[in-house]
Amino acid sequence: MHAGYILKKRLICRAVSGSAAKGWRKGLTEERNRLMETYFDIHTHILPGMDDGAENMETARQMLRQAKENNVEDIVVTSHYCPERWLWDREKYLDRFQALQAEAEKEKIRLYPGNEIYYTSHIPEALEKGACLSLNGGRYILIEFDYHIWEGAMEQALVSLQYEGYTPVIAHAERYRCLTESDQLIQRLSEQGMVIQVNSDSVIEAHRRRLRRSPVKRWLRQKIIHAVASDSHDARLRPNRMRECGAILEKYYGTDYARALLRENPERIVRSRYLGED
Ligand SMILES: [Fe+2]
Repeated sequence: MHAGYILKKRLICRAVSGSAAKGWRKGLTEERNRLMETYFDIHTHILPGMDDGAENMETARQMLRQAKENNVEDIVVTSHYCPERWLWDREKYLDRFQALQAEAEKEKIRLYPGNEIYYTSHIPEALEKGACLSLNGGRYILIEFDYHIWEGAMEQALVSLQYEGYTPVIAHAERYRCLTESDQLIQRLSEQGMVIQVNSDSVIEAHRRRLRRSPVKRWLRQKIIHAVASDSHDARLRPNRMRECGAILEKYYGTDYARALLRENPERIVRSRYLGED
């Protein structure tokens, strides 16, 4: 009777600890999957009627659904700030951001404000006045240049922005000849604390077309790139393809680096934390 009681108790304990362990493992797996598979997209043109991105709210809704299908749950809304090309109205941006936020909540997607800022000598002053927006109001700014900018001008501009207290994130770095022709400048900029962002489409194309001399592949191998983002403009011609990009990054460069590029570093940027921080 006593032995039977002990046996029964042992079996119950084993069953309880077994299911607890299973639950813990399940939790761990879910957590790992969440970290691996939900992405932060820090470069998008999803806000309707602001630039060459979404034309209207319906396109923006489609883009939200597409982002969700691509495992993106956090989006920085980086409409172009380039007053020479698109009339900029900060209040209009904030109103539309609020309206889109209500739509994003339905998809359980979080939105953060920002701009893709086209660099001119007026930008430091525009930032100081709050005319253009840093990423989620923090220390990082997403910055683009004329594609034909020469090496010295880009470096000088970036250093001057850093001097003002910002950390520049170079948008689609793969588009500038001064960066792709030799790796000296990009390495130096990276060492100086600039953040290098490339577009997910460029990662996909470089691998699909098996480009041997692709700067994106070279930079990925050297781990020069800090963040990959969609730069999506609509749901059809320039869509979100982050899931496909994530699979490529994971396959060729490993899960840890893929996670750093698509989730961990972008999240640190949005939270205004250093990239080396936990
Ligand atoms: Fe862009």
